[in-house]
Amino acid sequence: MMIKPKIEKALNKQANGELNAFYSYLSMSAYFESLYMPGCAHWFKVQSNEEFNHAMKLNEYLIARGGKVVLTALEAPKTQWKSFLSIFEEAYEQELNVSAQINDLMDLARSEHDHATEIMLQWFVTEQVEEEDTANSNVERLKLIKNYTEGIVAFDRELGQRK
Ligand code: FEO
Repeated sequence: MMIKPKIEKALNKQANGELNAFYSYLSMSAYFESLYMPGCAHWFKVQSNEEFNHAMKLNEYLIARGGKVVLTALEAPKTQWKSFLSIFEEAYEQELNVSAQINDLMDLARSEHDHATEIMLQWFVTEQVEEEDTANSNVERLKLIKNYTEGIVAFDRELGQRK
């Protein structure tokens, strides 16, 4: 069964959101490079790749269902932040927004009785639990570290281990 136009439109919007997240994390990564914090830069680069892959997953699904992928403009991401903590706080906010969008999509798939989309979206629901947890723990740990230089260096080193 071909995908309904309403769902097609909503999934394209979500894919654009994921690509905006990709772009925003890429900018955060570049910012950390400029601060000589290679671990955090690496972490955000990996995160931006994940968002890119989320968008691809949605696009592939759209194509498999006979839908059309419609790419739209991305917003220019921020390039300056007031503190390390504010970057991680923003990343957490971003994940909370994505979770809300995924939940809305799930509601739509349910109300439209689109079981295939519902099952596809389950992967995203599970993924968001992990994404929120990691983003929140980064924020909480940085709050504990405050301006303790050795703590920041260790945090950066640890984030640099991300696969
Ligand atoms: Fe694609 Fe981080 O949500």
